[in-house]
Amino acid sequence: MAKHPLPTTGTGMGKKAAGSPPATFPSEATVAPKQSLSITDNRTGKTYEIPVKDGTIHATDLRQIKTDPEDFGLMSYDPAFNNTASCRSAITFIDGDKGILRYRGYPIEQLAERGTFLETAYLIVHGELPTTAQLDEWTHNITHHTFIHENILKLMDGFRYDAHPMGVFVSTVAALSTFYPEANQIRNPEVRYRQMVRLIAKSPTLAAFAYRHSTGMPYAYPDNDLSYSGNVLNMMFKTTEAKYQPNKMLEHALDVLFILHADHEQNCSANAMRSVGSSEVDPYSAMAAAAAALYGPLHGGANEQVLRMLGEIGSMKNIPDYIKRVKTKEVKLMGFGHRIYKNYDPRAKIIKQVADEVFEVTGKNPLLEMAVELERIALQDDYFVSHKLYPNVDFYSGIIYEALRFPVAMFPVLFAIGRTPGWLAQWQELLTDPEQKIARPRQVYVGSEKRDYVPIEKRR
Ligand code: CMC
Repeated sequence: MAKHPLPTTGTGMGKKAAGSPPATFPSEATVAPKQSLSITDNRTGKTYEIPVKDGTIHATDLRQIKTDPEDFGLMSYDPAFNNTASCRSAITFIDGDKGILRYRGYPIEQLAERGTFLETAYLIVHGELPTTAQLDEWTHNITHHTFIHENILKLMDGFRYDAHPMGVFVSTVAALSTFYPEANQIRNPEVRYRQMVRLIAKSPTLAAFAYRHSTGMPYAYPDNDLSYSGNVLNMMFKTTEAKYQPNKMLEHALDVLFILHADHEQNCSANAMRSVGSSEVDPYSAMAAAAAALYGPLHGGANEQVLRMLGEIGSMKNIPDYIKRVKTKEVKLMGFGHRIYKNYDPRAKIIKQVADEVFEVTGKNPLLEMAVELERIALQDDYFVSHKLYPNVDFYSGIIYEALRFPVAMFPVLFAIGRTPGWLAQWQELLTDPEQKIARPRQVYVGSEKRDYVPIEKRR
């Protein structure tokens, strides 16, 4: 959770101006400021003191503020959670103004450069980086849970040939709950852990099989000799070869992309995972909800939309026109903007570097040139500067996925594979947090007053 600076006073207290007497007396300087907020309700003239902890007030403390004993009490109104912390979390730290992202305290840049996805997944789920023995065991467990029940394949066969793979992914993740009925024992740590391993292991299989279904290709089964990311490439692209050998550079690039997507604190899908999980449903059902939230074009579906947008723009000469349409709010510049980052998304920076590695193997993607030009023009434009709109993770990731030969519709599914450990860590943190309960927001009712039922023949 971001630390907030203490409010500054207008008196310059604590600052020493040259040549002037000290602004504070020694006794004052040692008195710690009170960690509370005083609120005066101008409707009643009453004043309340509300504790401040970690830069927040507890919203239920507002309920004591009433105009009379019958009054329900004050609530805060925050559509879209613009300024509401819904949990205390020790998983991911983001400073959106400085462009900082850390998992369990480790900077994303270091994990992307020196770690692997499975190591990062372990870190996110367990809270610490694994020792060699722990990583070996974790890798073994994940690798040996990659197969899915054959009946899931029958379910997949029921989808139309052109079914969006994200729709197939959401549905098959939900269907897994019926194969593991024990998963509803969400208060049992061992059972919980088993489902987490299963989900991290099976996500790539479901994703790749959804793709194979859409192309009519036979399913390519997991290969336990390959790394996590190597196996994704195997299940997606294996054709007639007896053993698929992933290109090391491309396997590494995919692994880095998964690391960059592994968690992102209380985003829309993590919030869905927590909200649905708070009803104590099994993790497959909760993760299906999270994946459904990710599917949307404003969230994980944005990478797909970036590619479609670049296709629509078509060529460099059309970029200025497109920017004009963005500024008149006719269209959005997909892959730009973020609720939290008001600076360059640190993931986008790393992805740009990975793109260079990938293009060494695959050759330059012509869309990259267009994306770079779009970014150059946007970053100089007053609209984007004043709105603090920068490229986010989705702006360049799609271009790399395309260079890796993933079809556009698979982009959000790849995001989902990477995000799986994050969703599960958020879910586990929720369940083990004694402050959490079933998620149930309040509303401000703006509908009709009480009125009596009108028989249909008397309605106008
Ligand atoms: N293109 C043009 N204008 C934009 C964009 C954009 N991509 N994003 C925000 N704005 C404008 C918006 O119109 C508003 O302008 P004004 O103040 O004049 O009304 C202002 O910037 C603030 O936008 P907002 O919609 O209130 O911001 P938000 O925090 O609610 O939305 C967002 C964040 C990511 C949904 C939004 O920036 C967006 O729709 N971006 C495009 C979709 C996208 O790339 N999503 C991926 C996000 S990163 C991956 C992930 O974690 O999901």
